Amino acid sequence: MPHDCVPELLARATEALEEEFGALPDTHANGENPSLGIAGDEAELDEDASAEAMAAVLEATAHRLGDNYPYFHPLYAGQMLKPPHPVARAAYALAMKINPNNHARDGGRASSAMEVEAVREIAGIFGWTEFLGHLTSSGTFANLEALWMAGQLAPGRRIVGSEHAHYTHQRISGVLKLEFASVAADERGRMRLEALEEELRKGDVGTVVATLGTTAMGAVDPLDEILKLKERYGFRVHVDAAYGGYFRLIADALDEPARRAFSAIGQADSIIVDPHKHGLQPYGCGCVLFRELAVGRFYKHDSPYTYFTSKELHLGEISLECSRAGAAAVALWATQRLLPLKPGGEFARGLAKGRRAALELDRRLRGDGRFEALAAGSPELDIVVWALQAADLRKASEQARRVFDACARRGLHLALVQLPGSWFGTPGRVKHERGGATCLRSVLMKPEHEAWMGEIWNRLGAGCGDVVGV
Ligand SMILES: Cc1ncc(COP(=O)(O)O)c(C=O)c1O
Repeated sequence: MPHDCVPELLARATEALEEEFGALPDTHANGENPSLGIAGDEAELDEDASAEAMAAVLEATAHRLGDNYPYFHPLYAGQMLKPPHPVARAAYALAMKINPNNHARDGGRASSAMEVEAVREIAGIFGWTEFLGHLTSSGTFANLEALWMAGQLAPGRRIVGSEHAHYTHQRISGVLKLEFASVAADERGRMRLEALEEELRKGDVGTVVATLGTTAMGAVDPLDEILKLKERYGFRVHVDAAYGGYFRLIADALDEPARRAFSAIGQADSIIVDPHKHGLQPYGCGCVLFRELAVGRFYKHDSPYTYFTSKELHLGEISLECSRAGAAAVALWATQRLLPLKPGGEFARGLAKGRRAALELDRRLRGDGRFEALAAGSPELDIVVWALQAADLRKASEQARRVFDACARRGLHLALVQLPGSWFGTPGRVKHERGGATCLRSVLMKPEHEAWMGEIWNRLGAGCGDVVGV
């Protein structure tokens, strides 16, 4: 494993942080250790014993954590999992010394200010300078706030999203007692406009959820076209860019339909993005943005316990969650200092590498008779799905599951997804019949995936050979 610089950097930064609080009386004054509640030599002995006990527990913890797929390694190419950047890990751990709470400035003064700055930078990706937004604990909670707002602004009107929208939209709508309808997707997993228009003609749609980067395939709904329908039918547009939001930075590297969709994102009414997906953050970091500042009135509430130390906005006043990890904001702020969210910058180049890895895998799959790529076209972002060539769907599904296991035994970790079998097949060859097929899926979201594609391909080929014998 390469040298991990985080412990050294963290030790130096921790000293600097301790200096910030240097005027406080030493907690070890008079040989006392208040955390143990005892004094003198006894305290020292207990401190040693306590450090030893902690070391033993941490070793046991490390063993327990070994029971995981190696998410941090390029040969993990399965689900949406990307290691946090070292600077994010270090900044998060540094903030633990303070453990700030970004509910009110009373509990997290510096980290609230850092959240405001970091969120402004994320909004800047979409060209927004005036907006209302904040971090959330997840994409699900960010979507919940956006759909809650949709319900506040258009009570009793329906929410619609593509059948490939994340399942939380339907569940959240249920929680909010809003009716949700699914709209059919095309053969690339994008919302079908004619199916959407059929719903719109019913006259009771309040909000359309457009997903820019679906969970299953990284498909990009035609947002630019959806916005044209908005002019005709009048509805709110919420963009779920939990996965895909950062691709706005490399829109020029995308195919034309996706580029047009990303170029239109600034016209949405609300957007969510997950820094804990492509933004190099530890889990616990989503983000919701509203184009209109005025929606802040719906959050209005009084708190008898908080909001005392500053007349400035407390983030809890514009958030449904109360306590939130200030450390998440600190980690995000630090990451964006090091890797600014700029087209052509290092962060954007990292996204482009994953995208190129996906296109390369797709190219190789198309040239190999053992596999069936998506008939309608190449991946829109950095997620690749493919089927196994077989006599029928049942056999193709069974083989996909066996190849998945065989690759895992060879150290390559992929994912599985259920998709219509008719979506796969090379033109000229017989397409699979209708019905669901279990397919292979690979989320190539680490920049290193590009350099590792040769190795990934070799192991996929070998895993496939274990199953089909070629
Ligand atoms: C498009 C999309 N929306 C929402 C979510 C839910 O986000 P979270 O897992 O952060 O709650 C996901 C998660 O994969 C997603 O891909």
